[in-house]
Amino acid sequence: TAQSFEQHFQDKLDNEVSIEPRDWMPDDYRKTLIRQISQHAHSEIVGMLPEGNWITRAPSLRRKAVLLAKVQDEGGHGLYLYSAAETLGITRDEMLGQLHSGKAKYSSIFNYPTLTWADMGAVGWLVDGAAIMNQVPLCRTSYGPYARAMVRVCKEESFHQRQGFEIMMRLAEGSETQKKMAQDALNRWWWPSIMMFGPKDDDSAHSAQSMAWRIKRFSNDELRQKFIDVTVEQAKLIGLTIPDPDLKWNEEKGHYDFGAINWDEFWNVVKGNGPCNKERLAARQNAWNNGAWVRDAALAYSEKRKERAEK
Ligand code: ACO
Repeated sequence: TAQSFEQHFQDKLDNEVSIEPRDWMPDDYRKTLIRQISQHAHSEIVGMLPEGNWITRAPSLRRKAVLLAKVQDEGGHGLYLYSAAETLGITRDEMLGQLHSGKAKYSSIFNYPTLTWADMGAVGWLVDGAAIMNQVPLCRTSYGPYARAMVRVCKEESFHQRQGFEIMMRLAEGSETQKKMAQDALNRWWWPSIMMFGPKDDDSAHSAQSMAWRIKRFSNDELRQKFIDVTVEQAKLIGLTIPDPDLKWNEEKGHYDFGAINWDEFWNVVKGNGPCNKERLAARQNAWNNGAWVRDAALAYSEKRKERAEK
């Protein structure tokens, strides 16, 4: 009966047994996962663009090789995630259709421009740093295919974070101009990075249910606080200043207090009006259209093979 299916599902959650594609699951659990995993996949793919912008201009062959590998990793993450979402009964074409029509969300952070080489440092350090903070707990998310995809993704993200921090460290110990460039990148990326964790808990529509389903293991505000606490120390280590005059260690709480987040800016970017939303979407639409011949050729080839096999 429906009730016993539901009980079985709940028992699995309570016992930390993962839910697998063929298991019964509530419709809304399935929908929430499709929403979150597909948004996550789109973020990885759109996230290739701001850094792709610097591959041809990396300052050395070594930097170029590292950046190229990093951007390719993001493409790979998108593919695992689209595959994980497909196990829930949506096709990749449907997901991409939602992205290209502008209906699907992807992370707000990728709608900001990458203006200087130091932005490659700031993006790796802060954006990938924030991404890991959110994704390490997702290795224990209740849906098996999503959790397993996250294990490898997190290993790669941790390399990305370190390569970004290393770029910042080198710039920060370089010439006056290099140090300024690093500080300027930190100034521009800090607030958007802490917005990445999503709205504050009181305004987070999905958090309570997603926590109950053990899709999310920590709330948006908890993860944001953890990120701030570790990142402030890292900034100190390389002599850069976090652009928040209200940032202050709170002895009693054992956490940093921080200034007010500009939520109008966040929602504005989420709604499609950030500095690069149109450019990002257009780049993905063009990539899709320019790749049509590859899809057509692959399809024609597979049909030809099928015909031959049938003869
Ligand atoms: N950018 C764009 N939209 C966002 C963001 C953000 N940074 N944060 C929240 N939102 C959206 C949510 O998608 C939701 O919109 P929807 O109902 O249309 O789907 C709405 O704002 C309300 O937010 P929440 O109720 O807090 O949503 P949710 O419970 O899904 O939490 C979160 C948001 C934390 C991003 C969650 O979806 C998550 O952990 N996702 C997986 C990680 C991820 O996607 N990372 C992407 C960036 S990292 C990278 O790609 C390198």
